[in-house]
Amino acid sequence: MAGSRITILGIFVADMAFRAARQPRIGETLLGDGFMLGPGGKGSNQAVGAARAGGEVTFLTRLGEDPFARMAGDIWQDAGVRAEILTSPDRETGAAYIFVDEASGDNAIIVVPGAANDLSEADIAHWAPRIEGSALFMTQLEQPIPTALAALRRASGAGVTTILNPAPAAELPEAIWSLCSYVTPNETEAAELTGVSVASIEDARRAGDRLCALGAGTALITLGDQGALLHGDGVSEHIPVICDADVVDTTGAGDAFNAGFAVKLSEGGSPRDAAIFGSATAGLAVTRRGTAQAMPERSEIDAAVALAQDRGLF
Ligand code: RIB
Repeated sequence: MAGSRITILGIFVADMAFRAARQPRIGETLLGDGFMLGPGGKGSNQAVGAARAGGEVTFLTRLGEDPFARMAGDIWQDAGVRAEILTSPDRETGAAYIFVDEASGDNAIIVVPGAANDLSEADIAHWAPRIEGSALFMTQLEQPIPTALAALRRASGAGVTTILNPAPAAELPEAIWSLCSYVTPNETEAAELTGVSVASIEDARRAGDRLCALGAGTALITLGDQGALLHGDGVSEHIPVICDADVVDTTGAGDAFNAGFAVKLSEGGSPRDAAIFGSATAGLAVTRRGTAQAMPERSEIDAAVALAQDRGLF
């Protein structure tokens, strides 16, 4: 790979996370146990995670002109993300409602992309030199799908390694798959995209076969506390969970996994080494509250990988 320049297209939103024993029913008010307002959005989380993990990261998005947009600037500056931003002055920066189950740390999310819904194919043409000059390009599906498709086309056409994190799952144009060097769904997204219900590693293998048959290069399917499966291009390998402390909040775990995976790949690491690095990145993030703010630093990830290796986890 030409270098370590990573370009990420996606959305920023302000996350409003509520911790409670359960979600309220319609018409019901519940007393919760905790609240956190902080930076979120899958693309932005991945950019922050990749920068903290040691990547040279550019993030492409649209924001409004409001306090949430200032929150975005603060986290990117803190993490060392280079942001190339377009603004939609008549739109608000988006927000997400996040329910975090107090007992398990699991989450449920409603995300409203706001200004990032304006991300367009014309925006991608504007950013083409940046995308085409990257070593690695990564995106998700929180911005309009034609925009993601246009960006993947630019990157793939220029020979850039591409990662599509198909989150949230959506009906996708057939043409998208062959533009993806890697596709990284979680088990729910893999099931929605392939029609194969995914509860085990064997199921993930079948879903991975389907994603590769659709045209994707390699599938990396994350499976929560079962780890992940790297599948395709002659490889089918289970990647263990690397987590050494209690799980307090799984929100953004997939973003952390993708961030670590992208960084190691962009450094020339093998897909297996990159997936292990991604697993360690996610395993640290879930021990902290929040999403972007929970992303670990490179030294922590290296230490977690070394410890897991000493313990014979991989
Ligand atoms: O992956 C977690 C993210 O999904 C949250 O930060 C929320 O903003 C939603 O986009």
